[in-house]
Amino acid sequence: MQPLIAIRELGKTYRQGETMVTALEDISLDIASGEFVALMGPSGSGKTTLLNIMAGIDRPTGGSVTIDGVRLDGMTEAQRTAWRTRGVGYIFQFYNLIPVLTAYENVELPLLTLPLSRRERHAHVTAALEAVGIAARARHFPRQLSGGEEQRVAIARAIVTDAGILVADEPTGNLDAGSEQAIMTLIRELNRRFGKTVILVTHDHAAADFAGRIMRLEKGRLISTGKEN
Ligand SMILES: Nc1ncnc2c1ncn2[C@@H]1O[C@H](COP(=O)(O)OP(=O)(O)OP(=O)(O)O)[C@@H](O)[C@H]1O
Ligand SMILES: [Mg+2]
Repeated sequence: MQPLIAIRELGKTYRQGETMVTALEDISLDIASGEFVALMGPSGSGKTTLLNIMAGIDRPTGGSVTIDGVRLDGMTEAQRTAWRTRGVGYIFQFYNLIPVLTAYENVELPLLTLPLSRRERHAHVTAALEAVGIAARARHFPRQLSGGEEQRVAIARAIVTDAGILVADEPTGNLDAGSEQAIMTLIRELNRRFGKTVILVTHDHAAADFAGRIMRLEKGRLISTGKEN
């Protein structure tokens, strides 16, 4: 079967003044639709860089990224932005909610670029808030929420456009053990029940245990793609 995400001989080099920093080198990997993959590796090994390239936020300096049969590496910035809104939801370590907007309004944001009526947006936002179990906090501002609740709102924002891919960069890195367990259980449920393909960057073995496969990066190279499942 054709993989959902196919990366071939990918490289990413940053120029820092006179010096070049190689963040990723010769990465080839496949991720099937519906997989839950953890991406691990030491600090600076290129995890966020690889995640951002898979999410269409950043582009490689070499090689190819094909998602659902579409080449991302050849797209313009505007094309990638349009693709991203429908294609992938991003969950950050520090939630990245907008402080002056309510939970509801934060979740509604990605929908504002789509041709939807107010009523349709309302249906999507409500469904997303319910799916993450935070509908009762819809009118709260981020500062009125606990860290675990903020992350639920951020996850609702990541799923509200019905993107098939969820990427998460250390989503539990800022949470206590109890909230971590709850957030990881939620992400697993989105994978199992809603069929989301999940790519999770984490340093934490307890979080990685939720994944079906663990990929490891070291110094910009993929040293293990995990056991195939
Ligand atoms: N915008 C940038 N400009 C220059 N170098 C960068 C940039 N972004 C990342 N790098 C470099 O690329 C390498 C990989 O960085 P990356 O953020 O992907 O690592 P990481 O594995 O996510 O680390 P951490 O676990 O600390 O988050 C590092 O050496 C970093 O300094
Ligand atoms: Mg990182």
